[in-house]
Amino acid sequence: MFKFPPHFLWGASISSYQTEGDNLYSDWWEWEKKKDLISSGRATEHYRLYKKDFYLAKELNLSALRLSIEWSRIQPKKNFFSKEEIKHYLEVIKTLRSLGIIPVVTLHHFTNPIWFAKEGGWLNPKTADYFLLYAQKIVEEFSRFIEYWITINEPLVYLTYGYLLGVWPPGEKSFFKAKKVLNNLIKAHLKIYDFVHRFYKKNHLPEPKISIAQNMLKFFICKDNFKNRLAYYLRDKFFNFYLLDKLTSLGVLDFIGINYYTRQLIDIEGFSLKDLFFSTCNKGHDSLIKSSLGWEIYPEGLYDLLLKLKRYNLSIIILENGIATSNDNLRWEYIKEHLKSIYLAMEKGAKVEGYFYWSLIDNFEWDKGFEPRFGLIEVNYSDFSRKIRDSALNFSQICKTGVLNEEQ
Ligand code: BGC
Repeated sequence: MFKFPPHFLWGASISSYQTEGDNLYSDWWEWEKKKDLISSGRATEHYRLYKKDFYLAKELNLSALRLSIEWSRIQPKKNFFSKEEIKHYLEVIKTLRSLGIIPVVTLHHFTNPIWFAKEGGWLNPKTADYFLLYAQKIVEEFSRFIEYWITINEPLVYLTYGYLLGVWPPGEKSFFKAKKVLNNLIKAHLKIYDFVHRFYKKNHLPEPKISIAQNMLKFFICKDNFKNRLAYYLRDKFFNFYLLDKLTSLGVLDFIGINYYTRQLIDIEGFSLKDLFFSTCNKGHDSLIKSSLGWEIYPEGLYDLLLKLKRYNLSIIILENGIATSNDNLRWEYIKEHLKSIYLAMEKGAKVEGYFYWSLIDNFEWDKGFEPRFGLIEVNYSDFSRKIRDSALNFSQICKTGVLNEEQ
């Protein structure tokens, strides 16, 4: 029997752009058109149906929900903050509170307003100040209801896809630009961290808890040789620990927020940056079961990473962990095995305080469209009806009791 502590946060995550629909002022909206991708269109209509989704979350006994605010809705134009949209999100947050669900709010989840992108986006030296202005507005309006803030979702994933591989907006492939963006993302986090803490103090609000959502991969060497060991060292250091080391050394993380999905196998040909940082091995290692996106299921990786995170001596929240699959039994296996890994890591001293499944509902998986099904709740895209999956019912029992039984 695995018994989790009483105040453990049992949650699920969503993001605005992936669920709301009709985010017309976002750079992703333009990107879909420009690249002729599947359009996010009405997405899951969560903007209209959020109450329904939150009632379902309540039915599933979730004690917390992670969501994001769409910057391009709040600030569709440069010097304009939309009162209507602020009111909308206030209602969203209040609905969660009225259901006794703790909101965890992400300020940036991969998308930007078009006006911001046109001014150079995260490359613009003024970027951190622009982002701060938006964040300040949100914090001023929402602080009474929010304790947990995530400044930026997966900064390094955003940077990799948008500025190194060029597959997400703005489609850049430049190491030098990526480096600038990285500095600006860090700067933005620092400014917001400082502002939020000062604001809460000044207004006698309970201490806020601020972090980023750091994506983590368990890296693996397929063939033991110098090249592969070097690639392992660089990837683990950069993709997993660079930001956490940097931000904790500056004292600007109140907890460690991580997203974990899978492992990555390394077997590289040469010493180019592409080889060292991105090439993967796909031969002779297909013994693990994969998600519908081809991601291997490897719960032991989460255990290993959680033990490594002990070095920061901060509490840890798993802000995303999930599987895209049409096989709901596999989803339940995935959840169960990852929860076991978490529990075992906690027994070894990892201070994990919460687990958020990605995602509460099926949604728009960026350039992959609507095919990948991550949801605890199924969305029927022809009429936007929702249906709770069996895996969710199993998960809801754990959320209710805090107990995972061996035989479950
Ligand atoms: C992102 C989500 C995404 C999920 C599954 C995470 O990297 O935060 O937006 O849907 O992974 O790919």
